[in-house]
Amino acid sequence: MIALEHVQLLFNNHPVLQDVNLFVQQGSTYVILGKNGSGKTVLLKTIAGLFPQFSGTIAINEISLHEYTQLPINEKIHKNITMGYVFQKGGLFDSMTVYDNVAFGLQRRAGTEDEIKNKVLSALEWVGLAGSENKLPSQLSGGMQKRVGLARALCLSPAIILYDDPTAGLDPVLTDSISELIVATQNKYAMTSILVTQDLAVAEKTAHRIGLLHNGMIIVDCSADEFFTKTNPYAKQFIDGDSEGPIEII
Ligand SMILES: Nc1ncnc2c1ncn2[C@@H]1O[C@H](COP(=O)(O)OP(=O)(O)O)[C@@H](O)[C@H]1O
Ligand SMILES: [Mg+2]
Repeated sequence: MIALEHVQLLFNNHPVLQDVNLFVQQGSTYVILGKNGSGKTVLLKTIAGLFPQFSGTIAINEISLHEYTQLPINEKIHKNITMGYVFQKGGLFDSMTVYDNVAFGLQRRAGTEDEIKNKVLSALEWVGLAGSENKLPSQLSGGMQKRVGLARALCLSPAIILYDDPTAGLDPVLTDSISELIVATQNKYAMTSILVTQDLAVAEKTAHRIGLLHNGMIIVDCSADEFFTKTNPYAKQFIDGDSEGPIEII
């Protein structure tokens, strides 16, 4: 599980995260919704340990994030708390083949070439890209690049996976196919997942629980079903895209 309490993060004395509280149950998907610029990527990167200057507490299976980031990888594997990160644009290296991009993290761990190859090829097969291993990222569509990013995270068998806007820039059909893949992945591996997006269709398809990030705080935190009943005025305004309501439009 992942627990955040009173998390605050300033950039140039300006709080991007004011007071974030959330709890992600083991094996579930927590979706963070929020408008462009609301701090979703910053929040996800903070959870990934990339902004250690935050205040408040973040715990991964009851281990504080500061302690967590110091743990050697073998210990994280042993405790089943490794973390995978799927970057917004796939985060691929342009000059490396799909195979090398996916193998990148694995090559930093112990394992024979054959073991690495098996993991890379089965991850590529899982995301629907069998046969693309020798291509360069530039030869793939945006949707395929996102699939490579997912394969790279998955082949490390993470217990926790963080998705940054996995459907940004995709048309509704591709968005749906990525959402389906995320749900299938969740069903197969039962990871603890956090996904940030501004796409309601993605949230509806993938979320067990939803947090709405606004003004640096999670202002709605409820089950996905409850969120979409629109009984909460903030949820209703976000879903309907109203300019009138409790969310101030600046
Ligand atoms: N490294 C950084 N240094 C300073 N400001 C940043 C940095 N990263 C993000 N920001 C600012 O934080 C705010 C939230 O950005 P971001 O998390 O990318 O939003 P979202 O992902 O919700 O669209 C933006 O105003 C952005 O300019
Ligand atoms: Mg973002």
